[in-house]
Amino acid sequence: MKYRNELIEGRGSKKLPFLLFLCTENVDMSKRILITGGAGFIGSHVVRLFVQQYPAYQIVNLDCLTYAGNLANLKDIEQSPNYFFEKVNILDVPALEQVFKKYDITDVLHLAAESHVDRSIVSPLDFVYTNVIGTVNLLNTAKTYWKENLAEHRFYHISTDEVYGTLGDTGLFTEQTPYAPNSPYSASKASSDHFVRAYHETYHLPVVISNCSNNYGPFHFPEKLIPLFINNIIHQKPLPVYGDGKNTRDWLYVIDHARAIDVVFHQGKNGETYNIGGFNEWKNIDLVQLLCRLMDEKLGRDPGTSARLITYVKDRPGHDLRYAIDATKINRELGWKPSVTFEEGLSKTIDWYLDNKEWLEQVTSGDYQHYYEKMYHQS
Ligand code: NAD
Ligand code: TYD
Repeated sequence: MKYRNELIEGRGSKKLPFLLFLCTENVDMSKRILITGGAGFIGSHVVRLFVQQYPAYQIVNLDCLTYAGNLANLKDIEQSPNYFFEKVNILDVPALEQVFKKYDITDVLHLAAESHVDRSIVSPLDFVYTNVIGTVNLLNTAKTYWKENLAEHRFYHISTDEVYGTLGDTGLFTEQTPYAPNSPYSASKASSDHFVRAYHETYHLPVVISNCSNNYGPFHFPEKLIPLFINNIIHQKPLPVYGDGKNTRDWLYVIDHARAIDVVFHQGKNGETYNIGGFNEWKNIDLVQLLCRLMDEKLGRDPGTSARLITYVKDRPGHDLRYAIDATKINRELGWKPSVTFEEGLSKTIDWYLDNKEWLEQVTSGDYQHYYEKMYHQS
């Protein structure tokens, strides 16, 4: 298992052909999979896993490269013979149709999205366009292109636990929890989930959906809590905790999410939803304290140095109190469970950011400065 994870993380490629032969024995060799949003945070890990683990598949990464999309996330696999990239916006239907035709696409893993809650509060329509209309464009393109033999294909929609809204102090989100999205982001994802489900009911499109909790790990854009705070700690800048810091999230290492996506794609049942989570709840302030402690150790700073940067700021409007996933179904039916503890995953993540300062500098130059000023220095 350790070696398998090294492959997925982009290391240890010398023994690749032999191991991949072992892994692909039972795999249909003729899949040509479209992965949307493959240049983003989670998408890049999914692309890497599929390219490395399934050399007989053709993997087509379709991404329009917004501020969040970065081909540097895929440098280690971009030369692989089974990897292809298409710079296309999912709002451009003729371009989508062309890509389906060019590669004779057999399956879709749909991750392209506007993904940041704070941006959705400022510009909700961007989220309607990409997350809702873009998803419907993809559904239509797939349905039309696959119409002769629909049942042989699969449309896998990757979604979020935020569609369920917020929990109080107790309870977990299950696949039966009613949708109650509170932010424009989660409302747009909920809407896209409903369309995917409706295409299954109405047109018999073979679909599967997963709803995952908060991810963290390498290549995470530093607008989200963990990478933003890592970057600020490195530069000894204030750490802006929203509200009282008691909001709670269920954190999952991104490579474990990619592993879950692999399992759901290959073994999930059509028309089903699978919740994915880490059984790993943290109040924001406790997580930030842990991050500060680990980073002081790794940076050789005196204990308490980074914690002094914590600054409580105005709360996010409509800030969901608590997310927590019941991942029993995917565990029981498909045998998936997280492979790393939070302390291990967080430590690996910090190490990755400290070892990849160039990546961090590249993504925090230019527009990022403008975003940061607007977001955190206006009151
Ligand atoms: P991200 O913002 O890092 O990446 C999104 C990618 O989509 C980027 O590469 C971007 O260029 C691309 N994209 C955006 N609009 C596009 C368009 N119109 N056409 C083509 N490409 C476009 O997002 P992420 O965190 O990697 O999330 C990926 C998916 O997983 C999203 O659907 C998100 O809702 C879901 N998800 C994320 C999390 C999380 O914690 N990050 C948790 C659960 C589910
Ligand atoms: P985020 O990473 O934006 O994910 P999401 O809102 O999708 O859960 O935020 C995680 C938690 O951290 C959330 O409760 C909001 C909080 N947060 C802050 O306190 N300060 C920040 O600067 C950011 C970006 C988030």
